[in-house]
Amino acid sequence: MDTFRTRNHSIFLAAAACLLGVFPRTAAAAPAESCVECHKDEKFRVQNKKIYDYYQEWKGSAHDLAGLSCTACHKGDPAKAGKDAAHVGIVPQSDPASPFHYKNIPATCGGCHQPVLERFAKSRHFAQLESTGLGPNCITCHGALNARVYATTIVERACSNCHNAKSKNHPEVIGQAQEILARLNHANGYRKGLKFYYKSVKKPGAMAKVDKAYTDTIDFWHEFDFKKLGPRSQDLLAELKKLYLEAHKAEAGKADGR
Ligand code: HEC
Ligand code: HEC
Ligand code: HEC
Ligand code: HEC
Ligand code: HEC
Repeated sequence: MDTFRTRNHSIFLAAAACLLGVFPRTAAAAPAESCVECHKDEKFRVQNKKIYDYYQEWKGSAHDLAGLSCTACHKGDPAKAGKDAAHVGIVPQSDPASPFHYKNIPATCGGCHQPVLERFAKSRHFAQLESTGLGPNCITCHGALNARVYATTIVERACSNCHNAKSKNHPEVIGQAQEILARLNHANGYRKGLKFYYKSVKKPGAMAKVDKAYTDTIDFWHEFDFKKLGPRSQDLLAELKKLYLEAHKAEAGKADGR
C-alpha cells in the first residue's frame, strides 16, 4: 500500500517539477535546454563519438518521452549556453561523488523509482554491490540513457553473464527467473486484456486494483527473493486470469442477450 503511494508521489513530483519548468521540454513556451542544444550537435559524431552516442540513446527513450531531460539525472545549469557554465557541479562518472558512480546508481534512479529501490535495497544484489562491487545495479539490467524493461530478453542480456556454470554463482536462478518472468509476462497479457475490456464497458477505474497487484509484484521482483516470488507470481497470474475470464464471460453473456 505504502510503496504504491510513494511511487505515485515521485511521479507527482516529476510532474510538479515539469510545471515549475525544471523539465522545459514539456512546457509549451519554455526555451530549449542548453544541454540538448549542444550535445545534439552533429559535429560530435566525428569529434566526440561517445558524447554523440549518449545523446542518440537518450533521444526517444521512455525518460525523454516522459519529459525528463538531461538535468533530471545529471543536474548542471541548462540556462547557460557555454559548456563550462552549463557543466557546473557535473563531475566525471569515475568520481565517487558522481551520481553515476556505480555504487550511487540505485540511489540516483531510486530518487524517482522509490518503491523499486526500497525492495532492491533488501536484495543480495545490493549487499554485494555495496560490499564487493560484484552485484548488478539498475543500469546493469536496464541500460542507462535508454532504460528499458527488456521483459523477455533480460535473462540473456544480464543474468547469465554472472549466473552460469563456469562462475558457479547460483546457476539455478536462470531457470527460476525464466519461469517467473514467463508468469509475469503472461499476467501482463491479462492485464492488457482487462484494460481494453474495462475501457470498453466504461469502467476504467476498475484497472486500479489490477495495476496495483501487478506493479507491487514487479517492485517485489527487485528483492530477488525467488523463494517468495515463485508463489507470489503464481498468485498474481491466477488472480488476473480469473478477472479476465470473468470479464470474458460477462462479455459473452451480453452478446447472447442481444
Ligand atoms: C556548449 C556545449 C555544451 C553544453 C551547453 C553542455 N555540454 Fe555537456 N559536454 C560537452 C562536451 C564537448 C563534452 C565532452 C567533454 C568535454 O569536452 O569537456 C561534454 C560532457 C558532458 C558529460 C560527461 C562528463 C564530463 O565532464 O566529461 C556530461 C554528464 C554532460 N556533458 C552533461 C551536460 C548537461 C547535463 C548539460 C546541461 C546542463 C550540458 N552537458 C551542457 C558539451 C556541452
Ligand atoms: C534517466 C537518467 C538519465 C538521463 C535523463 C540522462 N542521462 Fe546521461 N547518464 C545516465 C547514466 C546512468 C549514465 C552512466 C552511463 C554508464 O555507466 O554507461 C550517464 C552517462 C552520461 C554521459 C557520460 C558520463 C561520463 O562521465 O563519461 C554523458 C556525456 C551523458 N550521460 C549525457 C547526457 C545527456 C546530454 C543527456 C540529455 C540529452 C542525458 N545524459 C540524460 C543517466 C541519464
Ligand atoms: C527524475 C525522475 C526519474 C529518474 C531520476 C529516473 N527515472 Fe526512470 N522513469 C521515470 C518516469 C517518469 C518514467 C515513465 C513513467 C513510468 O514508467 O513510471 C520512467 C520509466 C522508467 C522505466 C520503464 C521504461 C519502459 O519502457 O517502460 C525504466 C526501466 C526506468 N525508468 C529505469 C530508470 C533507471 C535505470 C534510472 C537511473 C539511471 C532512472 N529510471 C531514473 C522517472 C525517472
Ligand atoms: C538484476 C536485474 C535488475 C536490476 C539490478 C534492477 N532491475 Fe528493474 N527490472 C528487472 C526486470 C527483469 C524487470 C521486469 C520484470 C517484468 O516486467 O517481467 C524490471 C522492472 C523494472 C521497472 C518497470 C516497473 C513496472 O512497473 O513495469 C522499473 C521502473 C525498474 N525495473 C527500475 C529499476 C531500478 C530503478 C533499479 C535499481 C534500483 C532496478 N530496476 C534494478 C531487472 C532488474
Ligand atoms: C553483475 C553480476 C550479476 C548479475 C548481472 C545478476 N546477478 Fe544475481 N547475483 C549476483 C551476486 C554476486 C549474487 C550473490 C550471490 C551470493 O551471495 O551467494 C547474486 C544473487 C542472486 C540471487 C539470490 C540467490 C540466492 O539463493 O541467494 C538471485 C535470485 C539472483 N541473483 C537472480 C538474478 C537474476 C534473475 C538476474 C538477471 C535479471 C541476475 N541475478 C543478474 C550477481 C549478479
